[in-house]
Amino acid sequence: MANAMRPTLVLALLFFLSFNSSFAGTYNVITYGAKADGVTDTTNAFNAAWIAACGSIEAATIIVPGGRFLVGSNMVFNGGSCKSSDITITIKGTLVAPGDYNVLGNTGYWLSFESVNGVSIVGGVLDGQGSSLWACKTSGKSCPSGATTLAFTNSKNVVVNGLTSLNSQLYHIVFNGCQNVTMHGIRLSAAGTSPNTDGIHIQFSTNVTVLNSRVGTGDDCVSIGPGTQNLWIENIACGPGHGVSIGSLGKSANEDGVQNVTVRRATFSGTQNGFRIKSWARPSTGFAQNILFQHGIMNNVQNPIVIDQNYCPNNQDCPGQVSGIQVSDVTYNNVSGSSATKVAVKFDCSSEYPCTGITLENVQLTYKNQRAEASCANAAGTASGLVQPNSCL
Ligand SMILES: *[C@@H]1O[C@H](CO)[C@@H](O)[C@H](O)[C@H]1NC(C)=O
Ligand SMILES: *[C@@H]1O[C@H](CO)[C@@H](O)[C@H](O)[C@H]1NC(C)=O
Ligand SMILES: *[C@@H]1O[C@H](CO)[C@@H](O)[C@H](O)[C@H]1NC(C)=O
Ligand SMILES: *[C@@H]1O[C@H](CO)[C@@H](O)[C@H](O)[C@H]1NC(C)=O
Repeated sequence: MANAMRPTLVLALLFFLSFNSSFAGTYNVITYGAKADGVTDTTNAFNAAWIAACGSIEAATIIVPGGRFLVGSNMVFNGGSCKSSDITITIKGTLVAPGDYNVLGNTGYWLSFESVNGVSIVGGVLDGQGSSLWACKTSGKSCPSGATTLAFTNSKNVVVNGLTSLNSQLYHIVFNGCQNVTMHGIRLSAAGTSPNTDGIHIQFSTNVTVLNSRVGTGDDCVSIGPGTQNLWIENIACGPGHGVSIGSLGKSANEDGVQNVTVRRATFSGTQNGFRIKSWARPSTGFAQNILFQHGIMNNVQNPIVIDQNYCPNNQDCPGQVSGIQVSDVTYNNVSGSSATKVAVKFDCSSEYPCTGITLENVQLTYKNQRAEASCANAAGTASGLVQPNSCL
C-alpha cells in the first residue's frame, strides 16, 4: 500500500513545485533569522527578506508567521530598485515597536514603504506601544514627536487588507504622494485621550479607497490633506476621536487643493466631529471641491456637520487674516442622529472666499431629543427633502 502510494505523492509534489509560483517566491522571515520571541530585534531579518522579495523577477510573498516580532528601529522598505511589482506581505503575528519612545523619537516613521509599486499587506497586528509617549506628551514635558506606525510615500498600486494597528505613537497609517491604494478591513485603535494618534492620513494622493474599517483613536478618524483627489471611503465606523476631516487646509500659502471625495455609510460614535472641513485663517491657493458626505449616522457627536475656516490655534500666525481656501460643491445627503451640542450644523466660511454650492438633502439631527440649531456665515447653497435643524443657507 505504502509503496503503491509513493509515485502518486512524488507526482503531486512535482506538480505543486512547478505550478505553485508562490511557493518558489516565498520568503519567510524566520529563514532570515527572525525570532518570534518579542525581544530579539528582527529589523535585519525583515530587511533581508524584503531585499530578496524585491529582487525577485516574479510575484513574491513575504511570510511573517504567528508570534511577536520586535522591529526595534525605523524600518524602510525601499522599492526604488525592486524587480518585482507584486509583493505580498502576509502577516499572521504581531510586529512590536520598541517600548522606549526615544528609540524612534524623531525618525518620523516606524514602518515606512518608499517608492514601492504593487505591494500588498495582508493581515497582521502592528503594536506601536505608544502609551508612554502619550503620557509624556499629556504631562506637558518636552518629548519627541514620535513615529507614525505605517507610511507609504511616493508609491502606487498598494493594498492593505485586514491589518490591525494598536496604540500608535503618532498617526497610525499615512499615505503621501501615492496612487491607486485600497485599504479594507482595517482596525485602528488607540485611547480616546491619546494625542495625535490620527487613524488614516492621506495627502498628495490620487485614487485611494478605504472600505469596511473601524477606527477609534485620540485624533482624526481619517484626515484628508492637500493634494487629495478621487478618494472613496465607504462603510467606516469612527469613535472615539475627532471624526472625518478634510484639512487642516491652507497652512501653506501655496497649496494643492482637495477634490472629488466621497464618504459613504460612516457611523460616528461620541466623536468630536462627524463630517468636518477645516482650514487655517490664512491666505492660500488651496481649495476643497466636489465633496459628498452620504448616509451618515451620528451618535452623540459634538459637531456632526461643520465647516470651520477660522482655524487659528493659539491665535498664532493668523490674527486678522481670512482663509484663502475656496470650499465649493459639498453635499450632505441622508445624515441623521444626535448632536452632543445645540449647534448640529455649522458653516463658518471665509469672508473673502465664501462657501458655494453647499447642499443639504435629508439631514435630520437632534440635540437631547429636541430641535438642534444651524449656524451659517458666508455660506450659500440649497436644502431639499426633510432638513432639521432648518437650513440657514
Ligand atoms: C491598482 O492596484 C491593484 C493592486 O496592485 C492592481 O491590481 C490594479 O491593476 C491597479 N489598477 C490600476 C488602474 O493600475
Ligand atoms: C485615477 O483613476 C482614474 C479612473 O479610474 C484614472 O483615469 C486615472 O488615470 C487615475 N489616476 C492616477 C493618477 O492613477
Ligand atoms: C471621482 O472619484 C471616483 C473614485 O473615488 C472615481 O470613480 C471618479 O471617476 C472620479 N470622478 C472624477 C470626475 O474624476
Ligand atoms: C440612509 O443612511 C442609512 C445609514 O447608512 C441607511 O441605512 C439608509 O438606507 C439610507 N437611506 C437611504 C434612502 O439611502
